Amino acid sequence: MHYGADYNPEQWPEEIWPDDVARMREAGVTMVSLGIFSWSRIQPREGEFDFAWLDRVIDLLHEGGIAVDLATATASPPPWASATYPELLPQDENGAVYWPGSRQQFAPSSPVYRRLAAELVTAIAERYATHPAVVMWHVNNEYGCHLNMDYSDAARDAFRRWLLDRYETVDALNAAWGTNFWSQRYQSFEEVFPPRKAPYSHNPGQLLDYRRFTSDMLLECYLMEREILRGAGATQPITTNFMGAFKPANYAEWAQHLDLVSDDAYPDPNDPESFRAAAFQRDLVRSLKPEVPWLLMEQATNALNWRPANAPKAPGQMAALSAQAIGRGADGILFFQWRQSKAGAEKFHSAMLPHAGTGTRTWREVTALGEQLAALPTLPAGSHDARVALVFDWENWWAVEASDHPQNGVDYLAVVQRWYRALHRRHVQVDIVPPSRVVGGADGYDLALAPLLYLMRDSDAAALTAFVDAGGHLLAGPFTDVVDEYDRFLDGGFLTRLGELCGIRLEDFGALVAPDAPPTSLGEREARFSGEFVPEATGTLFAEEVSLAATDATVEASFTSGRRAGHPALTARRAGRGVARYLATVPDEFGAQLVVDRVLADAGVAPVLPGLPEHVEVARRGELVTVVNQGGARVDVPITGVDAVAGERVDSLQLDAYEWAMVFVR
Ligand code: GLA
Repeated sequence: MHYGADYNPEQWPEEIWPDDVARMREAGVTMVSLGIFSWSRIQPREGEFDFAWLDRVIDLLHEGGIAVDLATATASPPPWASATYPELLPQDENGAVYWPGSRQQFAPSSPVYRRLAAELVTAIAERYATHPAVVMWHVNNEYGCHLNMDYSDAARDAFRRWLLDRYETVDALNAAWGTNFWSQRYQSFEEVFPPRKAPYSHNPGQLLDYRRFTSDMLLECYLMEREILRGAGATQPITTNFMGAFKPANYAEWAQHLDLVSDDAYPDPNDPESFRAAAFQRDLVRSLKPEVPWLLMEQATNALNWRPANAPKAPGQMAALSAQAIGRGADGILFFQWRQSKAGAEKFHSAMLPHAGTGTRTWREVTALGEQLAALPTLPAGSHDARVALVFDWENWWAVEASDHPQNGVDYLAVVQRWYRALHRRHVQVDIVPPSRVVGGADGYDLALAPLLYLMRDSDAAALTAFVDAGGHLLAGPFTDVVDEYDRFLDGGFLTRLGELCGIRLEDFGALVAPDAPPTSLGEREARFSGEFVPEATGTLFAEEVSLAATDATVEASFTSGRRAGHPALTARRAGRGVARYLATVPDEFGAQLVVDRVLADAGVAPVLPGLPEHVEVARRGELVTVVNQGGARVDVPITGVDAVAGERVDSLQLDAYEWAMVFVR
């Protein structure tokens, strides 16, 4: 179990370093991420490296028994780099330059940036690849965090190469993007630009490919660094820190290139429900690479600096969120950062060692958690605990939120998270996976929820069909199976792949009044629906025109209000050994709960522990059950086993607000 933080010793005089190490030991720190923003200190001028100070820090840490997750330091190019090579600076869609003076001012596809980064990483790798203190490599930092998309000339040139590689011929590109529309037909790849500011809507195929390209450019930077590290003989695990559901980078693809997934998470302590979003994030990152425990690379000990108002965490809340992460698969808790900065944009950001010193609640909580984590034995890894799959797919996130749709107010992540909350309130274990990973059978899932699978590959439709055949319960829709991977309609209407499985036809999408429309708008904002399977509930965004197309399909709920009143809202068809349901609307929070309760019961999915209130969460990790009271009334939890921290038998737990327990239930 790792415990620690980002360590930025270059912000402090060298005399302080020994004190840092002594305090780290006091806090139970086992590992620090070192050098993330040290480029200008390591390489003060092009061609000149200064490693003497870094040698001394690493040796000090090593002598103190603190392991190092060594950064490649490429996240914030030094001032000389931007001054000498302004072409490495990124640009927004209007051509405005992101200037230096902050951080991350680099165009990921810039050949100059990549050359400079490669030189830096080579020097670092050659020096430290076999240093005994270095147990992990931290490539760059939060790729894409501040600059989601780059539209610079470097991006333009790289995009053309990326397209050539993907399509090989310009005819194939024209076919994929449907460029006969609006006179967009290209004669060569050299005529293509990034989707910079244009008079009106861009070509949707181009936009979607620009998203893929952006994710790929960031990934190429990661892969370049990884190859350099391996080439220099580094054998330690290599990672880069993710940011949960981060739209610009398709982490489902990235994860296969990381030895372990690490993640940064900053749930808002002011939001009493943010622990559910945090749980979503933990389940997502665990599901990206389920066979390897992940690492919480950054969280805050207390207040932040970057929200409009940065309230402190409640007493105990930091430990409760840490327990949540471990219960959901993490093998380490680290913070941004070790010692609170004295200057710079993040000086108000909390740290393990606060500016106000060790006589603080933060320090007491940090040292207490360090002690508890040190008492934990090795925890189960790679166990398959979830019977429910929630489908989450980056390409659909990109495609669903493109413009010019029947409903342009769809927040893909918000819809997926609404379903997640309904599952989380019922204390069932959930994996969050792309459609290709929805498998049935004993080693798979009993229930899969697949909302908004607008973009569908044939292989994904085949996976969902096989899941149902194997006995799985699928709940799909709405706005599903509409386009192919190039964002083009398929011949034969909509639901061309899943329609047969569900036994339905879909004629139109029945968009309801957009969520942000003025209250005076005509048209329906929501559509009520009910039936024997689901009592009266409310749908939003869509009230699709669905009709039965197979004799063995049934209507489980119908719309009861609005233009679709009397028509199917929820259909079901028994297919193979399973059930395929289609929901023609997005239920509101309450409606999603009603639907989830019914499909959980129908699929026979049990909670990890029964009878818990909604402010208490529970997760399984093999034989380990973690229960966390996320800030509500005291609760009694009947559970028998061995407490993982105390090593003692328990027959029940009493947990006050923010108290938690981990119990082996053999
Ligand atoms: C991110 C960064 C850190 C720091 C924190 C502040 O996670 O990786 O360097 O800026 O945010 O919350």
